[in-house]
Amino acid sequence: MVVKIPDSKSEEAKIMLEEIKEGKILSRRGLLVGAGKLAVGAAGIAVVSSGGLTLLSKAEAAKKNASELPWPYKKLNSKEIKKVAEIAHDNWFKGFCTYAVLSGIVDVLREKVGGPYTSFPTEAFIFAHGGTAGWGATCGTLIGSGIAASLASGHKTGEQIVNEVMVFYSDTALPIYMPDHPKADIKAKSISHTPVCHISVGKWMKEEGLEEGKGPEGVGFLSPQQMERCGRLSADVAMKTVEFLNAWADGKFKPVHTAPVMANHIPSQNNCTACHGESIPKPGPFGTGMSLIGGH
Ligand code: HEC
Repeated sequence: MVVKIPDSKSEEAKIMLEEIKEGKILSRRGLLVGAGKLAVGAAGIAVVSSGGLTLLSKAEAAKKNASELPWPYKKLNSKEIKKVAEIAHDNWFKGFCTYAVLSGIVDVLREKVGGPYTSFPTEAFIFAHGGTAGWGATCGTLIGSGIAASLASGHKTGEQIVNEVMVFYSDTALPIYMPDHPKADIKAKSISHTPVCHISVGKWMKEEGLEEGKGPEGVGFLSPQQMERCGRLSADVAMKTVEFLNAWADGKFKPVHTAPVMANHIPSQNNCTACHGESIPKPGPFGTGMSLIGGH
């Protein structure tokens, strides 16, 4: 969609043209501020074309410059979401959790949207498996979710989406998804109460061991059961991410949860007592340094 600005001789249009010539890229908000007379609709970024000053839709603008987020996103239907889940599950066995979620979403967007997803190297994020190179920190599925959401909706919305996905991940008995080609039979679902890989997978292995009647240490890491669990969980996280992206595309995504760092005055989970028991240490006072951050 190319929208001509109605009156290219207006003061606003002249100023915009100057700014564009100087190489400043205008955000959508920038265009709308004080531009009541300019009907820009769903336009994203202003550019100069042969015909003069025009506004491109977000999708067209993003295709022009892949370093600008968000990239174009088209809502995925239920068949495509199923495909996301299947790729995520199957690709866990090729590159583990982060790659599973990221490639599940990106592969389907490559088909549906094309560029710039086609040239995005999902393999660059394989390293984040096992809580980053096997350190058991943040579950890699959540890293994949955050990258995919940021590509498709921009870094601010992407962060809000992954925050909601982390709540889902921590509070839900997982895995839920039943893949077409499971590699092992599994019995357990567990609620992690944390986004931390080590705790999440450890609790699940213990639960699976108990449910299989083998005892709490009966199912280990890199057992077919654990691998299948993390594969299904990747599908769950990928599908949840797409659910939020679809809501966002409809203008219906509303972040519900406050990022824990803002609520607790220290980067943290919310369930302090899970680790600290009753004597929760108090973080120092929340600083005033936010003013040092430019443009965030
Ligand atoms: C997943 C486990 C976990 C959760 C949940 C958790 N913490 Fe901690 N926290 C720790 C560990 C481990 C330390 C390091 C303790 C040490 O070295 O003595 C720590 C350290 C701290 C410290 C630094 C001071 C100190 O005594 O070590 C503060 C402050 C703190 N936590 C506050 C909180 C608050 C507030 C919450 C909830 C909003 C929270 N924590 C949730 C595990 C956790």
